[in-house]
Amino acid sequence: MSGSALGPLEPAGPQAEAIARLIHFFFWTTGTVYAVVLATLVAALLRRRKRETGERTLSAAVGLALGITLAVLALLTGASYWTSHRITRFRPARPIEIEVTGHQWWWELRYLNEEPSRIFQSANELHIPVGRAVALKLKTADVVHSFWVPQLHGKRDLIPGQENVLWLQADRPGLYRGRCAEFCGLQHAHMELLVIAEPQTDFEAWQTHQLKEPSPPADPIAQRGKQLFLSGPCVMCHTIAGTLAQATAGPDLTHLASRQALAGGTLPNTRGHRAGWVMNAQVLKPGGHMPSIALGSEELQAVLAYLETLR
Ligand code: CUA
Repeated sequence: MSGSALGPLEPAGPQAEAIARLIHFFFWTTGTVYAVVLATLVAALLRRRKRETGERTLSAAVGLALGITLAVLALLTGASYWTSHRITRFRPARPIEIEVTGHQWWWELRYLNEEPSRIFQSANELHIPVGRAVALKLKTADVVHSFWVPQLHGKRDLIPGQENVLWLQADRPGLYRGRCAEFCGLQHAHMELLVIAEPQTDFEAWQTHQLKEPSPPADPIAQRGKQLFLSGPCVMCHTIAGTLAQATAGPDLTHLASRQALAGGTLPNTRGHRAGWVMNAQVLKPGGHMPSIALGSEELQAVLAYLETLR
């Protein structure tokens, strides 16, 4: 799976920038305190054999050290408070609203719109326009998960029975990797999310494409694959817009072939990996809810040909 693996120290949005600044401030302040304490210790050890220091000088030194300590603590508390204030104040008007639902172990994404016909679903790949605020409505379908895209913002939990809203914005185009940051069972480590921040026009083009139903396959092998998909166990869990497959237990596959990764970021989205995933999901991601599907080689090739048409 491509995408930068950079952390919170390479921020790409206003909140992540505020957090990075705080990290730097804490690092340099506490680092300086550490260096000063060690230097004082060394100086004290070297001075030991010299004349006795008077009682008054000693208490003045302790008082000064105490004062500096309190001032440093107050400074750190103030900086921390100011950062969280800045972050929570970020509430631009007319954000893009996306519902993000955590599942064991993938992300369901639902792009909300005032016009119901412009609402659509996707999974594991969050497209957002650059320079525009996004309000993510975080929910979970099962256990507690945590949404974390270090280059864009801090972590926010997805809690059963509650909706948490996370505001973020990407200031430059790019791929930002995110992951679940709360232990949520066997495959917690395989619950990745890719944020694709793109210019507004690209985002709109992508959005328009996502709203389109995939055209029915013309190739007879892919047609056979579609038939197999719709008559097999796949329809029990997945949706493909414009077909009878309308289940929501697993990721929406309407535009599966246009995504970069499979299985919550576990595998690159290539024909070979799709084959492996269909046949051996339980080997590749043990404990996941995707069963391994036993298909004959001719059936497998047909299903793969059909999945490839879901661009
Ligand atoms: Cu979801 Cu860890």
